[in-house]
Amino acid sequence: MRIDIISIFPEYFAPLDVSLIGKARERGILDIGVHQLRDWTHDVHRTVDDTPYGGGPGMVMKPEPWGEAVDAVRAAAPAPGEPRLIVPTPSGRPFTQALATELAAEPWLLFACGRYEGIDSRVMAEYGARLRVDEVSIGDYVLAGGEVAVLVIVEAVGRLLPGVLGNVCSVADDSFAPGAMSNLLEGPVYTKPPQWRGHEVPEILLSGHHGRIARWRRDEALRRTARNRPELVAGFDPADLDKRDRELLAELGFEV
Ligand code: ADE
Repeated sequence: MRIDIISIFPEYFAPLDVSLIGKARERGILDIGVHQLRDWTHDVHRTVDDTPYGGGPGMVMKPEPWGEAVDAVRAAAPAPGEPRLIVPTPSGRPFTQALATELAAEPWLLFACGRYEGIDSRVMAEYGARLRVDEVSIGDYVLAGGEVAVLVIVEAVGRLLPGVLGNVCSVADDSFAPGAMSNLLEGPVYTKPPQWRGHEVPEILLSGHHGRIARWRRDEALRRTARNRPELVAGFDPADLDKRDRELLAELGFEV
């Protein structure tokens, strides 16, 4: 997969050299290019923003540098075709595991990082007519710019690419992994030693009874989901719940 990122702070992306994503780049699974938006300005101050039409606080990113930058990155295409353009913004559609899975199937993503009050909307209108454009939010809070959101999205997408994670099963077991009960959170996990500071590993996990361990894990996953994300319980498909699931959810005060 090819990823291009345009930003006024390219240095934000140093973490993409590290760990899972850094290794995926070394191994040629991911090819990432980071570009300085100011390289496509033509004034001495390398200006990228201006005051908003209609008034109001803050500054808006000017369309001209964005147009030149996006066109230049598209023209340097590593392969035929066009990128899918992703614009992180708190007013975008929610970023979910389902969207991460969808993006992981794309050959080429181009991220446009806005700062200030955002990018002049004509940029999204212009490219919306030529490319697939998604404005995406990573959560209901406001960051200082799109850079951190891009790090989040690239990590979530990158770990889904074939060959990036050692153990293929770990993706299927994730919270929010596509499939039945995709909105069941993962339960607690334990490793050695069996006792630590007076805390014991739950005995059932040492029992070797695979069936009982699977049931215990599902109970814990249901409890955790009910406690931390009660709204997800409402989204369970009744066809995915067995008798024990229903009993436990009833004990926890949920009608299913
Ligand atoms: N830029 C600022 N806040 C953001 C958010 N919550 N998600 C994506 N991009 C953002």
